[in-house]
Amino acid sequence: MDVLIAGVMAYLLGSLSVSYIITQKVKKVDIRQYGSGNAGATNTLRVLGKGPAILVLALDCLKGVIAVWFGFWAESLFRGTGLSLFEGYEGWAPAISGLLAIFGHNWPIYHRFRGGKGVATTIGVIAALIFFPAIYVGIVAILAVVITRYVSLGSIIFAFATPFLLFVTMNYYGHPWPYFYLTCVVGAMSLWRHRTNIQRLVNGDESKLGQ
Ligand code: G3P
Repeated sequence: MDVLIAGVMAYLLGSLSVSYIITQKVKKVDIRQYGSGNAGATNTLRVLGKGPAILVLALDCLKGVIAVWFGFWAESLFRGTGLSLFEGYEGWAPAISGLLAIFGHNWPIYHRFRGGKGVATTIGVIAALIFFPAIYVGIVAILAVVITRYVSLGSIIFAFATPFLLFVTMNYYGHPWPYFYLTCVVGAMSLWRHRTNIQRLVNGDESKLGQ
């Protein structure tokens, strides 16, 4: 029950495409028809500018944080009732809730299942679950963006490096295994969602920050 309730709530929350809603409100356009066609903060920067892009980034991150909180809440609510899907195993409900929020962001039920690449929501989920490894990988990803001005490259590094760093620091921080499985699935999903960016990076025609 815990995973089911928190997961549905997380998916419905993640499905709120902030960039789509804001560009519709401000410019009366569908962000998915402009720039890279992605419903995310980077494309909001191209379509609406800095302020709205920061707002989208913050709210998309927040969706991830709240989704994880739904998981913790449901896990503690159902603990010991016999209704918990993973009774006695810690971390599954917040990990699955986080994953479903990212799913919602990428394939939103309210917007014909055409959403974003899940980066900001992933940052929120990962930061809420594994704060310190997330900070270290985040610093490397930000440095990559600052140096190359490719946001997609930073996103790919973040998605790819998180499971590795989490794996080597598991014992030190004492994170449960479901968090590691989550980062693997999210990492693979993010690489898949960035496949056109990867192609453009290889071809040398990916758009740079500020272009
Ligand atoms: O947040 C997604 C980012 O990594 C790439 O976005 O619009 O350049 O495809 P975009």
